Amino acid sequence: MTQSILVTGASRGIGRAIALRFAREGWTVVAVARKQPELDALRAEVISAGGMCRPIALDVADASAVARQLGGIEVDVLVNNAGVGVLKPMMELSAEEWHRMLDVNVNALFHVTRAVLPGMFARKAGHVCTIGSIGGRSVFVGGSCYGATKAFVTAWAENLMIEVRDRGVKVSVVMPGAVTTEFNGNAPGEKDRWKLVPADVADAVAQVVLTPPNVLIHRLEVRTLTVPAKGPGK
Ligand SMILES: NC(=O)c1ccc[n+]([C@@H]2O[C@H](COP(=O)([O-])OP(=O)(O)OC[C@H]3O[C@@H](n4cnc5c(N)ncnc54)[C@H](OP(=O)(O)O)[C@@H]3O)[C@@H](O)[C@H]2O)c1
Repeated sequence: MTQSILVTGASRGIGRAIALRFAREGWTVVAVARKQPELDALRAEVISAGGMCRPIALDVADASAVARQLGGIEVDVLVNNAGVGVLKPMMELSAEEWHRMLDVNVNALFHVTRAVLPGMFARKAGHVCTIGSIGGRSVFVGGSCYGATKAFVTAWAENLMIEVRDRGVKVSVVMPGAVTTEFNGNAPGEKDRWKLVPADVADAVAQVVLTPPNVLIHRLEVRTLTVPAKGPGK
């Protein structure tokens, strides 16, 4: 039977690469993000890669919209990837930026994962894989909110892992270093050549997900070897 994966933040960057990685395996992709045109473009690419795609335009921070659009959904794998980073010193963050990071990086995990878990419990099988960050375990200037949300991801995932494994559900966290995307307002270019590319993270997610039934890779860090001499040390 065709397997299915729900990826949040699938419209660009790492989430898009994960969607395409599993499309090439022949999986059905449920692609979630806010921007419909980008999701439609992804759908066309997934189909030409041999997969199926169901785009769902949705703000994962909107609890009632998540319940309405994802409640009761049946998927084999959930990848909580949608995330926001506004990397600057806390005194320079606006209240809106602070709350948006907490809403998308933390609170949306509650909304989306609770919509998906009942179907996994009923089938006694499933996998919840969340994209954390190396920034969740090593401090940096500008990371007071973002880094703390990613530290939350790691702690949340480990607690959830021991809560649901007896019900047949695996929980993992993949923690990338710096990746060339539009994250934190970045405009990808030559300066990013040293970073990982989104497909590197998608391959790491595939390694975590495509394991035998009794094997759980709970936590995986994926880093670049080519850190610039005076780079951020990731
Ligand atoms: N890039 C890095 O260096 C890096 C390193 C470590 C970890 N990460 C993590 O990797 C994940 C993906 O980041 P990225 O680098 O691919 O960033 P990105 O290029 O900015 O993509 C972020 C994705 O999240 C979606 N998104 C944002 N807010 C959303 C919301 N409220 N509801 C639904 N979707 C939302 C965006 O789609 P829409 O705008 O269409 O909604 C987009 O698809 C994040 O969790 C990030 O923290 C990134």
